[in-house]
Amino acid sequence: MSGILEGKIIAVSGGTKGVGYGVALESAKQGANVAIGGRDEESARELIARIERDCGRKGLFVRTDLAKAADCRNLIEQTVARFGRLDGFVNYAGILPAATLEDASEKMYDDVFAINMKAPFFCAQRAVAAMRESGGGSLVFVGSAHAYGGSEDRAVYACSKGALLTLVRHIAKNYAPCRIRANWITMGWVGTQGELALRAEQGRDLRWLEEAAAASVPMGRLLTVEDHVPGILYLLSDQSSMVTGTELHVTGGFIP
Ligand SMILES: NC(=O)c1ccc[n+]([C@@H]2O[C@H](COP(=O)([O-])OP(=O)(O)OC[C@H]3O[C@@H](n4cnc5c(N)ncnc54)[C@H](OP(=O)(O)O)[C@@H]3O)[C@@H](O)[C@H]2O)c1
Repeated sequence: MSGILEGKIIAVSGGTKGVGYGVALESAKQGANVAIGGRDEESARELIARIERDCGRKGLFVRTDLAKAADCRNLIEQTVARFGRLDGFVNYAGILPAATLEDASEKMYDDVFAINMKAPFFCAQRAVAAMRESGGGSLVFVGSAHAYGGSEDRAVYACSKGALLTLVRHIAKNYAPCRIRANWITMGWVGTQGELALRAEQGRDLRWLEEAAAASVPMGRLLTVEDHVPGILYLLSDQSSMVTGTELHVTGGFIP
């Protein structure tokens, strides 16, 4: 039986962890060959083994430090060099440190904007060029409810995601005639490695996270990787071929 991404070539930034890992693996199950950008070689090797052994698809790990624009471009270029074209790009990678507007340092600002905004911009720059050559494609950007104003303790993060949302709208508005689509997914609250590391710094653990989510997410629980993967796969697939510029909220009823 063919999957909804049969024959497609997908690249995922941050494919080594969390939702990025889930999207990469499920894309392969749905028929795609998949390139993964990130730094964690152990996780990438394990994922590629699963893609090739369990899904019978091809996987490629491109070691990528998203702080460097050259690495961002290289992720896309290596994907095209190996697989011949690019049909879909998912920008999952991001960092989410906590600080208020009054406390945020210049270094935090530069680090967050480098990974959350500059990296998606330069990945998208190459991805759009590749997709233009092959007649179209789909970009999916993982965003956050903080983009719409943000909590008091996420000033830089909120601004970086707000800028990212503008990038999504910019691509959607200007590249539709090239059949290049860009969509945004508002990711809900998930106990990812990044989120758990942030909470550990605050002396909190997974149990605290689950209780806090049960109290504050309208649908009453922390979200999961699996809650997000189907929407992203839909946006990558031809089922959404006329969908661009959308903001899909996977937030358990929290309306930003
Ligand atoms: N967790 C939540 O509740 C939540 C809510 C809304 C939105 N989000 C969004 O979800 C995304 C991931 O956040 P997370 O920390 O929660 O997830 P995570 O599962 O811990 O994943 C973070 C990913 O980012 C990659 N990454 C970070 N810095 C990188 C760099 N310099 N170069 C290459 N890759 C880098 C990591 O790859 P390596 O480890 O391989 O370097 C990893 O794959 C972000 O876009 C964030 O805004 C998260």
